[in-house]
Amino acid sequence: MDKFVIRGGKTLSGTVQASGAKNATLALMPATLLAPGSYTLHHTPELRDVTTMSRLLETMGLKIERVDDALRIDSSVVSSYEAPYEHVKKMRASIYVLGPLVGRFGQADVSLPGGCAWGPRPVNLHIEGLRKLGAQIDVEGGYIRARAKRLKGARIVFDVSSVGATGNVMMAAVLAQGTTIIDNAAMEPEIAALGDLLLKMGARIHGVGTNHLEIEGVDTLHPADFVTIPDRIETGTLLVAAALAGKRDGKVRVEHCNPAHLSAVTTKLEDVGARLTLGKDFIEIVPPEVIQPVNITTSIYSGFPTDMQAQWIALMSLARGASIVTETIYGDRFMHVPELVRLGANITVKENIATVVGVEKLTGAKVMSTDLRASASLILAGLAAEGETEVLRVYHLDRGYERIEQKLSRLGAQIERVSGEEF
Ligand code: UD1
Repeated sequence: MDKFVIRGGKTLSGTVQASGAKNATLALMPATLLAPGSYTLHHTPELRDVTTMSRLLETMGLKIERVDDALRIDSSVVSSYEAPYEHVKKMRASIYVLGPLVGRFGQADVSLPGGCAWGPRPVNLHIEGLRKLGAQIDVEGGYIRARAKRLKGARIVFDVSSVGATGNVMMAAVLAQGTTIIDNAAMEPEIAALGDLLLKMGARIHGVGTNHLEIEGVDTLHPADFVTIPDRIETGTLLVAAALAGKRDGKVRVEHCNPAHLSAVTTKLEDVGARLTLGKDFIEIVPPEVIQPVNITTSIYSGFPTDMQAQWIALMSLARGASIVTETIYGDRFMHVPELVRLGANITVKENIATVVGVEKLTGAKVMSTDLRASASLILAGLAAEGETEVLRVYHLDRGYERIEQKLSRLGAQIERVSGEEF
């Protein structure tokens, strides 16, 4: 297990490129189960979660190789319809194989993902959606066992807007007989990207990128190549790093990103006092002289993303004044708070609301990663803290950030990966 050793207080300045979006990639890869043949997914980030998804798809018979920044997937042979616990327990997004397997083969045995570091994360909407399409689903022995003849189009209204359930039901419905309507569908850009790949594969979907999807089932689909969208959470994390660890003379430019996907974050960064320039595919940030306290409430797209909440709390830790961070997607998602407090932050959490009272300075300490975005917030805090911060168990970070230490180093941060068993 690796750790990061960070010497805080360096000004960040320079240019970095955003990677392809993890959460889009994890939906695009299983979509290749829907039609046999060869696919090239360009701009696929090299991440542990992508490797986990590759291993899972390989157990089903797919052939996957990396060629430069692309992933080549050959789905000509699908020999198993099972997603075993060994894979699913490593990554909840493994559940994305459920929809395509039921849609195309009428059979899927997918381990239940269980909870995660910040509490229960149910999959009832995935199951209910597929049942509406006519799948017979039993949950037994820790597995979701789905069987179906050809699925039939239906009207589905999600009680809660769910990224994963929308993706799964969409992938099942594209091969169903008749029309499926999904209301309260997730509008996240990663789901729109999945919709765009499905359209390229010959699916008939109206309303991609909106919360009302109409899907006319087709008999067969064909393979297609695709360029993955940029990772908006990675971009947002780099912008917050710049805002936190910058001095007035620092200017950070993130290229190959999509500013349109990030407006909830960039407007809040402007409220904080940062100066931003948004181009077509880049964002430049000049950090604030003084970090102003700014409240946020997480919500579904296009609101402030829950995946940026931990990083925002790190930023607010050094604000001049108090701010309120309200988490509406995952009420318990505050694992980073006790660790940030170890660095000197003043944060209290009551139910799903964190009150962050800005402090003069953070001081380096040993802290522990508990999940992906929590790890990111600890690194950001470490970059701004005085002295040395060690962030242990950074394997969480490697799930979702492509060579983050190299990107931050290029911007002038002093951050080093140290490998060893004992961390
Ligand atoms: C995805 C993202 C994750 C992000 C989250 C919210 C991937 C691989 N992961 O996760 O990074 O934090 O969206 O933007 O894309 N819910 C139910 N029943 C269900 C499914 C979800 O009640 O069957 C609830 C969840 O508990 C949560 C809300 O719906 O409160 C949204 O979750 P969802 O959008 O499904 O998150 P994921 O797809 O798991």
